[in-house]
Amino acid sequence: MGLAAAAAAAVRPCRRRLLSSASASAASKTAAGTATRLFPRLPHPHHPPYGRRLPFLVSAASQTGPATPVPVPVPSDPRAAVSGNLPFFDRVLFPDSFPLETPPAKEEEDAAAVQTDEAVEPAASLREETETEREAWRLLRRAVVSYCGEPVGTVAAEDPECTETLNYDQVFIRDFVPSALAFLMRGETEIVRNFLLHTLQLQSWEKTVDCYSPGQGLMPASFKIRTVPLDENNEGFEEVLDPDFGEAAIGRVAPVDSGLWWIILLRAYCKITGDNSLLERVDVQTGIQLILSLCLADGFDMFPTLLVTDGSCMIDRRMGIHGHPLEIQALFYSALRCSREMLVVNNGSKNLIRAINTRLSALSFHIREYYWVDMKKINEIYRYKTEEYSHDATNKFNIYPEQIPSWLVDWIPEKGGYLIGNLQPAHMDFRFFSLGNLWAIASSLTTPKQAEGILSLIEEKWDDLVANMPLKICYPAMEDDEWCIITGSDPKNTPWSYHNGGSWPTLLWQFTLACIKMGRPELARRAIAVAEERLSDDKWPEYYDTRSGRFIGKQSRSYQTWTIAGFLTSKMLLENPELASILTCDEDLELLKGCACCLSTKRTRCSRRAAKSHTG
Ligand code: GLC
Repeated sequence: MGLAAAAAAAVRPCRRRLLSSASASAASKTAAGTATRLFPRLPHPHHPPYGRRLPFLVSAASQTGPATPVPVPVPSDPRAAVSGNLPFFDRVLFPDSFPLETPPAKEEEDAAAVQTDEAVEPAASLREETETEREAWRLLRRAVVSYCGEPVGTVAAEDPECTETLNYDQVFIRDFVPSALAFLMRGETEIVRNFLLHTLQLQSWEKTVDCYSPGQGLMPASFKIRTVPLDENNEGFEEVLDPDFGEAAIGRVAPVDSGLWWIILLRAYCKITGDNSLLERVDVQTGIQLILSLCLADGFDMFPTLLVTDGSCMIDRRMGIHGHPLEIQALFYSALRCSREMLVVNNGSKNLIRAINTRLSALSFHIREYYWVDMKKINEIYRYKTEEYSHDATNKFNIYPEQIPSWLVDWIPEKGGYLIGNLQPAHMDFRFFSLGNLWAIASSLTTPKQAEGILSLIEEKWDDLVANMPLKICYPAMEDDEWCIITGSDPKNTPWSYHNGGSWPTLLWQFTLACIKMGRPELARRAIAVAEERLSDDKWPEYYDTRSGRFIGKQSRSYQTWTIAGFLTSKMLLENPELASILTCDEDLELLKGCACCLSTKRTRCSRRAAKSHTG
């Protein structure tokens, strides 16, 4: 970053080093016009040009309701076929009380002025921020990185004491989400728009691992801004965005969650800003379609869940989550729901929309039916017969009751339950994974009753899942032989550390979101209070160790951005619960009616009655 800033004076109009096939034509149009604008907006007859001066309080009548079908005037571009209408899209309105205004620290005033959306007037009623919140905002702003003079994201960590940066100086897609939300809720929307458009241009860069390219539509795990000489004479420099699709990451795993988070964030951005012109852009519509086409491509798999390798999400090291991990399924479901709202309906997209609906039905049935465990279900599994060969087997996945771990027998509460971590033939991963369960609530992947059950389990198991720091990434930790075999004896993932049962404060915002959705804000308030007690004193660690989260993690970074942003986002959401709807989805009963469930006993469509029973 320092290097980039130093070279800024010499930086020419920004140029990309490589162009993806998806964005080549849009970019060549740019080159033909003014070379400085990376993302020219397509001229749109029905919308005024997008500017930073968004009306923050607009009447609902003027902003809601379907947009008029409009052709995008670039007939030479085959991707122009995506234009049409946005059937479900509703704007969320800013509450009177936002944004809060933090007076920037003296020495950071200049930098902050660059990044603050000047159009956003502070709202009339201002709450006094706590010292911790003020510090968090200062640190969040310090983590902002710029590309060609515009803010485009936040680095993963800005730890001045850490000499080994690894890739923590990069902008991670998943890590930026809570930063984006904090900025959005404060009315600083520009950084999020820039992030969405720049990462879109990185989609499907021609990068390879051992001569093999990732699928078109893949979003990188992270990117870095590098300053490179324009020629051998070193007379001028340019900034380039350098993405990592996993080809440099430890373990070389492709990030399946990046594209899903990108879609979720795009919807949140558009809902809060009302910037529908962004949605109607050809490159944005194409970006959504590419991500989904990659996810919906046919393979050998028999399940509606997404089949992925180990470490393809927040847990990005070997932790035995390959197969159909819950976190990916919850994000997948959420991204499908968001895309359905955002995709313009026309001849080019109608098959994709049909595929989305079919997948949503099957996915929600599958997860609600087979991932859910509570006291009753565990008892059922305990009495399972095995080796049932038939279409109407009770034990469809041939689960041996011996798999029920001893910890679970005592742990499962009388009331409530949760979604298991993974389901494969003859394998149920009974570990509790927080992010998957919380996002399943937020997206309505669970039934409302199951959602209540998950929160009630978290409340009941508070000492195991929250204790001294919210929230356990998973519970319990793997130990002894299991740890050796499943993690490959990973010294970073030792029992109750890091991904293996560590406590991650960033998960606070997803917890807050789920609590708000289910009308249980007091639970979130309790967790935030626990975190607020320690985070600043402990220098905003990435994660905590030990069974009850008492110690700062062994190799934990300090000033981890998503810890800081997660805290701020939780606080803002709690104060403005109506803003939760930019991220959540409501129960869709129509989906259950259309559930084409190949796993149902008679291999027929799920009856309306059966589907209804899942809404319980
Ligand atoms: C670690 C985490 C990953 C995160 C990255 C940057 O690798 O496992 O989820 O995105 O750090 O913070």
